Amino acid sequence: MKITIICSSQRRKSQTLKVGQYFAEQVPLAGFQEADIYDLVDLNIPMWDGNDKEKKKCNDWNTIRQSVYNSDALITLTPEWSGTASPLLKNFLMMLEPAEASDKPILFVSVVRGISGAYPIAELRMNSLKNNRMIAIPDHLIIRNVEDVLNEAVSINNNDQNVREKIYSSLLVLNLYSHALHSVRRKILKKPLENRPKYGM
Ligand SMILES: Cc1cc2nc3c(=O)[nH]c(=O)nc-3n(C[C@H](O)[C@H](O)[C@H](O)COP(=O)(O)O)c2cc1C
Repeated sequence: MKITIICSSQRRKSQTLKVGQYFAEQVPLAGFQEADIYDLVDLNIPMWDGNDKEKKKCNDWNTIRQSVYNSDALITLTPEWSGTASPLLKNFLMMLEPAEASDKPILFVSVVRGISGAYPIAELRMNSLKNNRMIAIPDHLIIRNVEDVLNEAVSINNNDQNVREKIYSSLLVLNLYSHALHSVRRKILKKPLENRPKYGM
């Protein structure tokens, strides 16, 4: 099983990237043999204007697209800025096509300094999966008080430990969905669904 991890803060050296790197360390323990991690702020992916030809010419897009194509699952991490999910992540999810993403499980993670963090999850669940046809697993994660957790190799207090346990549990669930949906995709590949519209309603 392979996984792609997407971090999406608009600034470098972000807390979101810190959490993403923790995920990258943990995914082998949950049964993923291979992981790619990307920080969207480091990639040159323009805001999509619907021009497919330009999209195909974008090297960074082709790299990340290929990673998703080869993966069985995705984890996306967004900071909450002004109550919204990252525009970089929204753009990325808008650009993804069913060809690389359809019927693959996705774990949404939001990252906040304080105690907020629910809005980006609600937003992503509502309107980021219609056309790429990914499937959000029931578990999502909100990493609150992020500056106080995941800073050391081992947990330093109950809150830190609690966050690590929740992450591990969500990764196990994601791995189960990866296996289950792999068989769904294999069946669809073998016998394509008749009249399935390219995009959802
Ligand atoms: C422009 C801006 C807006 C922010 N808005 C919110 C917000 O609406 N709610 C919140 O809980 N935190 C907010 N934060 C704080 C972030 O949650 C915090 O910086 C956290 O570390 C995640 O961002 P990062 O990954 O860029 O570090 C905001 C931060 C910035 C820079």
